[in-house]
Amino acid sequence: MDTITKTTVDTSKDSFPLNGTDYIEFYVANAKQSSFYYQMAFGYSLVAYRGPETGCFDTVSYVLQQDKIRLVLTSALTPDHEVAKHVLKHGDGVKVLALWVDDANYSYNKAIERGAESVKGLETLTDDNGEVKIASIKTYGETIHTFVERSNYNGAFMPGFEAREGIAPAKSVGLKYVDHCVGNVELGDMNKWVKFYQDVMGFKLLITFDDKDISTKYTALMSKVVSNGNGYVKFPINEPAKGLKKSQIEEYIDFYGGAGVQHIAIATDDIIFTVDQLRKNGIDFLYVPDDYYDTVTDRVGAIDEDLEELKRLNILIDRDEEGYLLQIFTKPVQDRPTVFYEIIQRKGAKSFGKGNFKALFEAIEREQERRGTL
Ligand code: FE2
Repeated sequence: MDTITKTTVDTSKDSFPLNGTDYIEFYVANAKQSSFYYQMAFGYSLVAYRGPETGCFDTVSYVLQQDKIRLVLTSALTPDHEVAKHVLKHGDGVKVLALWVDDANYSYNKAIERGAESVKGLETLTDDNGEVKIASIKTYGETIHTFVERSNYNGAFMPGFEAREGIAPAKSVGLKYVDHCVGNVELGDMNKWVKFYQDVMGFKLLITFDDKDISTKYTALMSKVVSNGNGYVKFPINEPAKGLKKSQIEEYIDFYGGAGVQHIAIATDDIIFTVDQLRKNGIDFLYVPDDYYDTVTDRVGAIDEDLEELKRLNILIDRDEEGYLLQIFTKPVQDRPTVFYEIIQRKGAKSFGKGNFKALFEAIEREQERRGTL
C-alpha cells in the first residue's frame, strides 16, 4: 500500500472526494479598486486582507464573501512579481480555482500519482486560529487548482490574513454558491483536459455539446462538461470550432493570451431579486432581443415566474427532463473581453441552458462585432 496517499477520508465510493469550491482567486491590476467593485456592485462583504500591514510586502489580497462564495483579489506591489507578470500577459483573470478537501495531502499526492503537474507541495500554515493545509497542481493555461484543508481553522480566511470589514455594510444580492466554472482551451485541447479531470481527479463526463448544438450562422464551439463524484464541482471545457467567422472562444484566447477561465456561474434562489439588484448596481448584461419572449413558453412550458418580469430583466429560460432553469450572463467584468459571470437559478434542471445557446451566442457575436473581432 502506498503510505503517502494513506488517508482517514472515506475513498471507497469516490477516489477523489471534494467538498466544493473553497475560493476563486483573481490576479488583478488594482485589487483595492476591484474589491470595491465586488462589494458595491455584486454585494460581497470584505472579510479578510493580507498586505504590507500584515507583513506581506510584495502582494496585497482582499477576501470577499457572499453566502458560500469566496473570492480572493490579489495584486502585486512590485513590477517583477509573478502576479504582475500574470496581469501583464492575461489582464485581470482567474489564477486559482481552489477546491475544499478533507485531506489536502491525500488529494495532492493522489493527483500527482495520477499524472498531475505540481505547482507547490503541501504547506501547513498556522496562526492563533489554527492551521490550514494547502497544495497546488496545474490545470489548463496558467490556471491552477489549490487543495485546501481547513477543518482545524476558525479564522477569517487563512493564516497570514487578518479579518477586515468593508467601508460600508454589504448589501447581499442573494448570490449563494458557485454552480460551475467554465474553461476555454485552445483548438484541439478540449479532450485532453476532459481526460485530465477524468484520469487525475476521477471526474465523470456529464454532457457533450458539438458544433451543431452550439453554432450560429457565423461561429461555433464545442463543449464537454465534467463533474466530480458528488456533483458539487462542475467544469465545462470549451474549444473553438470552425465557423465562417471568429469564434468567441478564439477571441477569448487571443485576448487572454491562452487558455483560462471563461465564466463563473453563481447560483441564486431568487434570480428576479438578484438581477434586479445587480442592474440597479450598474452591472451590464448581454442583451437578448424581446422577441425571444414571444415563443419561449412554447419551448419551456409553464413556469412559476412572471414572464413580463423575466422579459424586463432579460432573464433566459430553459427546460430539461428534470425541470427548468433561469439564467443570464454579464458582459466581461474587465476591459479585455475575457472573464464574465452567469447568474443561474435551478428549478429542478441540472443542465446548462442548451435551448438558450443560439440566442446567447448571437448576443455575444453582436458584442464581438462592436469590438471588431468577429
Ligand atoms: Fe455556464
